[in-house]
Amino acid sequence: MSFPLVRMRRLRKSEAMRRMVAETVLNPADFIYPLFVCPGENECQGIGSMPGVNRFSIDALVEECQAVYDLGVPAVILFGIPEHKDALGTEGYSPKGIIPRAVRAIKKAVPGLLVVCDVCLCEYTSHGHCGVLEKGKVHNDATLELLARASVAYAQAGCDIVAPSDMMDGRVWAIREGLDDAGLEDTPIMSYAAKYASAFYGPFREAADSAPQEGDRRGYQMDPPNFREALREVALDVEEGADMLMVKPALPYLDVLSAVRQEFDHPLGAYQVSGEYAMIKAAGQQGWVDEQRVMMESLTCIKRAGADFILTYFAKDAAALLGSR
Ligand code: PBG
Repeated sequence: MSFPLVRMRRLRKSEAMRRMVAETVLNPADFIYPLFVCPGENECQGIGSMPGVNRFSIDALVEECQAVYDLGVPAVILFGIPEHKDALGTEGYSPKGIIPRAVRAIKKAVPGLLVVCDVCLCEYTSHGHCGVLEKGKVHNDATLELLARASVAYAQAGCDIVAPSDMMDGRVWAIREGLDDAGLEDTPIMSYAAKYASAFYGPFREAADSAPQEGDRRGYQMDPPNFREALREVALDVEEGADMLMVKPALPYLDVLSAVRQEFDHPLGAYQVSGEYAMIKAAGQQGWVDEQRVMMESLTCIKRAGADFILTYFAKDAAALLGSR
């Protein structure tokens, strides 16, 4: 049975027909919106390489969260820019740090919005690495305790999910143990299970002021050529007690995302990172691509490849567009 009996174009004839047979449909509930929180009051600082994305002081952040919630986006993920950085990243795990204060303010004002907290030291360390340095190298095991402390501080402030992005070995286990010891056994862990040492994080590092002063992150984040290794990373995080999984970046790593989807039954997310966003924005502003269509296409394809949820700087724009259809 084939041509002329079969004509694939029959079901592509109209918008209505295409909608009826679409296998993947985006929904505002698919998105998690990343937000940067900075010190001060009434601050809304633009980020040059990420048009449309800002750093907010806590008061302004709360208003932004209300807007996100009103668009039907169920969750935000928070990144903190501290008042002071030091070698041990102290503000990253202080109960009085910027993240616990932001979490309390958001949960009070917009209780229905899920607050995810990124757990990593790079925004808080003066050297910009994701953990404690010893002889110029990030010391894995010394970092674990600090990550666990950060997770406890965020969960005690009321965050709904902690999301370690540091790529230390054993961090999910250490965080689970820390949370459970503090009586926080109901706080889930969303693990950045397969996170690559990617050049696509460039704009984020401007936003969070978190570029390493010396060296790079290739000693702990994954090497882009590796695929099978991602499945091992994910399996380890699952064994250590991860409740949800993530692959990052998204578009250049859809093969990894798709494989993780097939091998594991956990809720799975993908992070469309700052560089992916910046490239679409920049080309859109130049008039070289249709920004709105590339945005929706990229998000749809990430979902098609297997993501249950997508962390994306387009969350608000995409949700608004979906709501208007
Ligand atoms: C912190 C962290 C990073 C991102 C998320 N969490 C930066 C990095 O690992 O260097 C990147 C997100 C993005 O680029 O949008 N470790």
